[in-house]
Amino acid sequence: MRSQVPAKRPIRISKIDNLIIFLICILSSIISSYKELLISPLNISDILSWLLNFTEAIISCGILILVSKKENPTISSRHIILIITLLLAAQALKLAFASTISPLSIIIPPALIISQGMGSITALAWVSIASLSWPDPSITINNNLFFIALVCASVVSILGGRIRSRAQLLQLSIFVPIGALLSQWILIGKDKISLIDKQELVFAKDKIFSDSLLLAIVMLFTILFIPIFESIFGLLTKARLLELADKEKPLIRRLSLEAPGTFEHTLLICGLAEEATRMIGGDIDLIKTGGLYHDVGKLHAPNWFIENQDGSKNPHDEIDDPIRSAQVLQAHVDEGLKYARKNRLPKLIANFIPEHQGTLKMGYFLHKAKEKNININENDFRYNGPIPQSKETAILMLADGCEAALRAMNINASDTEALETISNIIYSRQKDGQLDDSNLSKGEIFLIKRAFLSVWKRIRHRRIQYPTSKNNTFS
Ligand SMILES: [Fe+2]
Ligand SMILES: [Fe+2]
Repeated sequence: MRSQVPAKRPIRISKIDNLIIFLICILSSIISSYKELLISPLNISDILSWLLNFTEAIISCGILILVSKKENPTISSRHIILIITLLLAAQALKLAFASTISPLSIIIPPALIISQGMGSITALAWVSIASLSWPDPSITINNNLFFIALVCASVVSILGGRIRSRAQLLQLSIFVPIGALLSQWILIGKDKISLIDKQELVFAKDKIFSDSLLLAIVMLFTILFIPIFESIFGLLTKARLLELADKEKPLIRRLSLEAPGTFEHTLLICGLAEEATRMIGGDIDLIKTGGLYHDVGKLHAPNWFIENQDGSKNPHDEIDDPIRSAQVLQAHVDEGLKYARKNRLPKLIANFIPEHQGTLKMGYFLHKAKEKNININENDFRYNGPIPQSKETAILMLADGCEAALRAMNINASDTEALETISNIIYSRQKDGQLDDSNLSKGEIFLIKRAFLSVWKRIRHRRIQYPTSKNNTFS
């Protein structure tokens, strides 16, 4: 039954990517420690101390990669390369400019990029590693300044992971430098404010106004370049997710015009899935956007899907060939993936297209085929998969399954009846092994059922007609 289901596998990183990652880690560790070898005369204890620092730096890189993989189980090699390249760049900048520019401008902007693309925990891990290792032992950094840099970078890491719009990013890039300026003023000293040092307004270490001004400029440039990072490294920031969820996007506009039934179905399952994801504490923005694109493949032949038929002829009846009908159904997944590629949808969004169907049986056509020929191969009537690999895609599969049943349900049906229908549909998918890779716990499945029920109650409420008299048409 599960012959087409790929076994659950950890993210696969190609040998070349592994080699690139390894080389960047080595380079970063060399930059972090090589200054210790430049002392003359060099004795054994210096070499040992270099070896210790080098090992420490390389282990730090390893820990950083592990933390990022833990936070994002589906992280790609491009993301890992970005994280360690930023670490390498920070070390190189410290080496070249530690005596000229403040650590604030070196540590905080990369933390913003990482928290936006990979999450707060990875960004915090990056900040702690980048703050601990300073390649040039001869440069001393004011303890208070170090503390302020660490606090500001942590604030940026935590808030950066939650920010949902570019406007909030802009606010962050203004308020963090102001916060840094005030805290430096309080902790380091009022006498070092330099407002009129024109020649060294930006590049002047220990001039706290210049430090904060440079930080603000670098942060603004970082925000400007985040869309470029998004496309080069395939980052999926919250702002990008929300942009993709815009219903004026060409693909979604086409769906609403050419396949209105599918568009309505999409909106309803987005509502169901969003509520369920909120209940289990999943990524709401991800499921809202993924849900919107899950059936775009139906654009290749909208009238082959019942929701768009509008009472007209059903092409499936005309061809009367269950195997070809099953191929048309599978094509909505394959074509959907093609649309995703053409429209450069991020991988996390494109995953919703095959995973919402998993390896589900196309029951209606299988039944029809069995009526004609009893020795039919059941696998010809299953979607190609893979089965849902995340909680979000699994919830979308369940919402997709429940939508039609809930829509068709009698307006007078009780809550118990609705819950029973939902439970039956979810149980059949569970029994079929569709949820095996999704990591959904029993408790979470219970919460999902409750969420679907509450959305159904909302739909039922909307369908109840209010009694209106002829004289009361305005209220
Ligand atoms: Fe579908
Ligand atoms: Fe669907």
